[in-house]
Amino acid sequence: MLKRGEFLIFLWALVARSALCLADPSPECIVTEYSQLKEATENCLEIVVRDLTVPGGLTADFNLQDGARVTFEGTTVFGYFQWPEWNYSLMRFEGNNLTIEGAPGSLLDGRGALYWNGIGDKGPPKPFFMIIAVTNSVFRNINLLNCPYHCTVIKGSDGVTLTGWNIDCSYGDAHGAHTTDGFDVVSGNNVVIKDSTVVNQDDCVAVNQGFNMSFSGLRCSGSHGISLSVGFSKTSFYDNTVRNITYSNCTLSNSINAIHIKTHNDGGPGEIEDVTYEYIAFSDIINFAINIQQDYANGGSTGVLKGNIPISNLQFRVCFQVLQPMQLRYSFFCAERACTNWKWSDVSISGGVVDSYCNFEPEGYTC
Ligand SMILES: *[C@@H]1O[C@H](CO)[C@@H](O)[C@H](O)[C@H]1NC(C)=O
Ligand SMILES: *[C@@H]1O[C@H](CO)[C@@H](O)[C@H](O)[C@H]1NC(C)=O
Ligand SMILES: *[C@@H]1O[C@H](CO)[C@@H](O)[C@H](O)[C@H]1NC(C)=O
Ligand SMILES: *[C@@H]1O[C@H](CO)[C@@H](O)[C@H](O)[C@H]1NC(C)=O
Ligand SMILES: *[C@@H]1O[C@H](CO)[C@@H](O)[C@H](O)[C@H]1NC(C)=O
Repeated sequence: MLKRGEFLIFLWALVARSALCLADPSPECIVTEYSQLKEATENCLEIVVRDLTVPGGLTADFNLQDGARVTFEGTTVFGYFQWPEWNYSLMRFEGNNLTIEGAPGSLLDGRGALYWNGIGDKGPPKPFFMIIAVTNSVFRNINLLNCPYHCTVIKGSDGVTLTGWNIDCSYGDAHGAHTTDGFDVVSGNNVVIKDSTVVNQDDCVAVNQGFNMSFSGLRCSGSHGISLSVGFSKTSFYDNTVRNITYSNCTLSNSINAIHIKTHNDGGPGEIEDVTYEYIAFSDIINFAINIQQDYANGGSTGVLKGNIPISNLQFRVCFQVLQPMQLRYSFFCAERACTNWKWSDVSISGGVVDSYCNFEPEGYTC
């Protein structure tokens, strides 16, 4: 028999559980085996994925109903597979008005160490960890461990927010990981990525195409920077266009470059317009704190400038902070007439700047 006080607590607990949506969904919507996934995604609006093992060679495909909500609990782990091409992923999300969430303590483990071979995107193909192709959706508190290759690839998405993520590929530092990009926006509009941590071995964020994006509150360590990499298409101006992007309140440490914009000289025409960096803090930057180059191809600098993708209205604003004693270096390497209207405004830099290279100077900055 419950005493009155205990009964009230019991009642309260029941109410609280439903109010916080902690109640389990119906049993067919709880996915503990890969074979249950398809039916759950087809029939359920509320899905729990609990301690799932995804067998090697299969993709966890979340092709979800409008308004669906998925919660990951425990550890989701992915079996190793030697994929035949570079276009596969361990997970894929598709749908509208989705809420995808990691429960406290949950983890998605890509077991990257089984793929890492010290040569990144050369050698046998590795899978993306996840592809996100959604509209009006939120991904919250997702913990990714050890991505085999690029971690999060946003593709053809409109209106997507990623917040409270933790991407940890630190094990890869001493185990041959390369090209573990944190967040790649291959194509997307109205993308927000905020309040997240990335420890990896390539770009923290890289944008290839899209409009209206905000990246804020990112803590990036070990990365190649908060980047734009534009010019993958040989023919499409649209695919080589990036406009209205803001990076704010980001910290970069142990990074090869911190702010990196590269236009591909072997790509077709395009443009980069209206990009702002503000409140950026640096520590242990190995190469350049700011590196902007219009000579990029096949993953590296060529020294051959081309103005096929001009960069206009680029702003550096408000307080760049150096978190430990070091001197920053910048490189601004522009093709003729392909850099216009760059502003360096209200920037106060703690720490010195040495040995910078500029063939172009933002207004307000002297190299
Ligand atoms: C989005 O989905 C939620 C359920 O998760 C629903 O309550 C809401 O009305 C939907 N919003 C729109 C705009 O359809
Ligand atoms: C990857 O590319 C191959 C060859 O073009 C194709 O057969 C396969 O369906 C593609 N897979 C995905 C997941 O896109
Ligand atoms: C970018 O944002 C503006 C202002 O909210 C909006 O009018 C425009 O349609 C957006 N562009 C895209 C491609 O979504
Ligand atoms: C730029 O993008 C932001 C969202 O990141 C949006 O609020 C703003 O309206 C956009 N500005 C223009 C001119 O489209
Ligand atoms: C970045 O930090 C500044 C100063 O604390 C704050 O005013 C601003 O709203 C923040 N921006 C974003 C996008 O969080």
